Amino acid sequence: MKREDIDQLLAEVGALDCKTQKEVEDARVRLLGKKGSITALFEEFRTVDKDQKKEFGRPLNELKQAAMAKIDELKENAADDGSSDGPKEDLSMPGDGLPLGSRHPVSIVRQQIVDIFRKFGYDVAEGPEIEDDHHVFEALNFPPNHPARDMQDTFFVSAGHLNPILLRTHTSSVQVRAMETMKLPIRVICPGRVFRNEAISARAHCIFHQVEGLYIDENVTFADLKQALLLFAREMFGPETSIRMRPSYFPFTEPSTEVDVSCNICHGKGCNVCKGTGWLEILGAGMVDPNVLEASGIDSKKYSGFAFGMGLERIAMLKWQVNDLRHYFENDMRFLGEFETAPEV
Ligand code: PHE
Repeated sequence: MKREDIDQLLAEVGALDCKTQKEVEDARVRLLGKKGSITALFEEFRTVDKDQKKEFGRPLNELKQAAMAKIDELKENAADDGSSDGPKEDLSMPGDGLPLGSRHPVSIVRQQIVDIFRKFGYDVAEGPEIEDDHHVFEALNFPPNHPARDMQDTFFVSAGHLNPILLRTHTSSVQVRAMETMKLPIRVICPGRVFRNEAISARAHCIFHQVEGLYIDENVTFADLKQALLLFAREMFGPETSIRMRPSYFPFTEPSTEVDVSCNICHGKGCNVCKGTGWLEILGAGMVDPNVLEASGIDSKKYSGFAFGMGLERIAMLKWQVNDLRHYFENDMRFLGEFETAPEV
């Protein structure tokens, strides 16, 4: 063994320069691999006489350390040509992004309805979901034995006393609160969640959402109601839409009407959605019964008004042809994600 061999390799290591990972790996094999030149020196070292071991041992170890450090350094700096084990991703690729939530179809419809009536000058009023009999029934002219008060329809919280506490079955209760507290004239819409004791099916649910509206002033007539609903229907379903009123009954309005809009899918020709009739029922409405005005302390000789109410799930069903009410409550992401970008029919 010769000292020059070690020094020569040390110089070689010092001068080593590699551009790519492949060159670094080749240099490592050439120096430190099984048949590498430094490995070979270690082999040779084993045969060196004992008294010479001291002379060569230390520089040999220093050579190995230097070579390993140099290889590490070069590895770090060399260009990645795909031959290394390091990350192979293209870091300039666009990221995956976080999935964004979307609004619930019922929220979208509620917002549209609220926006339309805001433009007509209505304020939004809200009230409690847990209500008393007075605001849900009594003040709305429900006779004491009216079937809607029956346990079949109403969830009672406490039934035992004169004014039972219950879950509101419609947001007309908020209109009563408005009549009790607001200054006349009143123009409000009341969006909110309502509860009815119904078996859950594709067409019925025990929870759903309404927007109800109320307008009270001097000389409000049925013609005003008709015009307000026609304007609303055209804003909501398109400028070609027409409306049809059918006589109906609600304890709190007289006269009462159920309102249909022309089917915006077949444009009146008749299709599956409108069941061949060309019309879709969307809301109930009428002139506020004088008894209702008087119950809230409003002079029915001086003031008159109209009210209307609609179910949001139903309107969303018609708008997007949803065929089962239960979808709205099941929080299936595949369903919920369809609406913000879904074309409106
Ligand atoms: N409150 C009625 C319902 O829940 C809807 C309605 C409101 C009808 C106002 C007429 C006037 O079905």
